[in-house]
Amino acid sequence: MRETVNHSLLFARAYEQAAGGIIPRESRPAFHLTPLTGWMNDPNGFSYYHGQYHLFYQYNPYDTEWDAMHWGHAVSHDLLHWTYLPAALAPDAWYDSFGCFSGSAAELADGRQLLMYTGVRQVGGDSKKEYQTQCVAVGNGKDYQKYEMNPVLDSSALPEGLSPYDFRDPKIWRSEDGMFHCVIGARRKDKRGVLLHYESPDGFDWQYAGVLAENDGRFGLMWECPDFFPLDGKHVLFVSPQDMLPEGFEYHNGNGTVCLTGTFDGKRFTEEHNQAIDYGIDFYAPQTILTPDGRRVMIGWMQNWDTCKTTGYEERPWFGQMSLPRELFLKNGRLYQQPIRELSLYRSRKTEYRDVLLDGEKTLKGIDGRVAELDIRLRPADAADPYTKFTMNFAQNGKYYSMLSYRPYESLLKIDRKFSGSRRAFIHQRRCQVADRQGEIRLHVILDRFSMEVFINEGEQVMTATILTDAAARGISFVSDGKLLMDITKYSLFDEE
Ligand code: FRU
Repeated sequence: MRETVNHSLLFARAYEQAAGGIIPRESRPAFHLTPLTGWMNDPNGFSYYHGQYHLFYQYNPYDTEWDAMHWGHAVSHDLLHWTYLPAALAPDAWYDSFGCFSGSAAELADGRQLLMYTGVRQVGGDSKKEYQTQCVAVGNGKDYQKYEMNPVLDSSALPEGLSPYDFRDPKIWRSEDGMFHCVIGARRKDKRGVLLHYESPDGFDWQYAGVLAENDGRFGLMWECPDFFPLDGKHVLFVSPQDMLPEGFEYHNGNGTVCLTGTFDGKRFTEEHNQAIDYGIDFYAPQTILTPDGRRVMIGWMQNWDTCKTTGYEERPWFGQMSLPRELFLKNGRLYQQPIRELSLYRSRKTEYRDVLLDGEKTLKGIDGRVAELDIRLRPADAADPYTKFTMNFAQNGKYYSMLSYRPYESLLKIDRKFSGSRRAFIHQRRCQVADRQGEIRLHVILDRFSMEVFINEGEQVMTATILTDAAARGISFVSDGKLLMDITKYSLFDEE
């Protein structure tokens, strides 16, 4: 941790205002949240409070690398236009001097907002270890006071044998009887994650209530950033495991995301189904909220831990983006995702083509841009002689392009950003196995300046990847091996282009 930096909140607020104020708007995505300045990781405290959405984030205002975690803060009325508020938390107390790690928010009975987070401090002289405890702060939606009795949970609240150095990321919910609950990630001696359930009558006084779920070895090691909520008659547990092994076409991300669906008896979660939340490259640590009109909406950190040091952001004044907010639902036992419906309010300049015959290369007038929505439906032109490959090149100019390609005979959809302008040999490709529908596929693609998110077949799967290509590369073109028919609708978004 940098010794030279003053870790007071006042200092951070003055610094971020000056440094954030000079970042040109065009250097940021049009509608994906980036840090006011410096570094961003996990979404924190995602909530609806007093008439607006609040999104906090893991934040180092002073540099574009992870360090000295603060909580950045932004608010929104539609989850797409964000207004920055001053940083909410700084690592300025004895119990969080190494960082205010991830956590969540809830409204207290008296109308104040409660933030619950992991306070980390270093202990043990030279062989410093990061001791993790749970802390709370209370505020009015802008300014927060850390609770004088912090930490509210420390190693004395851990069951026998669990590590006090991996005890983090409380996610709060409230039950119908008004009780506060939270789920927190912890770690056993065998290095595997456990999710612990705690209860509190008031948000301050927390008691251990048992193990909610544990890692039996199928999903990585430590489990970070859990979320737990009811959805369409089931219970859903989200977790971001570290150090995952790939399994077929699932879980290719090292530190990845898992969605478990099942049942909850008030004490323990029983899994019935598992899947990745996102099948692309850049997605981690998602959090959800229930909107006032009853939608379950998720936002994740649109980044992969393994590519943080190599993405070539060094010339940028910010690092890290949040994903598009996504509406969640269950269908046939699977998690489905759709872009948040508010996005359709910001469409303009519709361009539409029906029954375009692709046989080789093609560009289409009006189909281009970097801040755009594309709804693409493909089918073989001749069922007896199916096409073997479809490719969409995007963010393209004479030098750079990225690709989304589909091979129907393997049912594999692939993202490839090898030629996006990256000068490093980090992960550029990811393949996702989709349901076989005889060459028919729907690709709903959301492009912002530095990302692409593709919702596959009505949101049955989603692939997300960041790209750093210069925003002037705005071409889109299509290539096919064999004959196929394409319907395509394109909108510009936010009147950006
Ligand atoms: C996940 C994570 C969390 C932790 C935070 C620290 O990305 O490692 O477990 O609270 O980041 O910034």
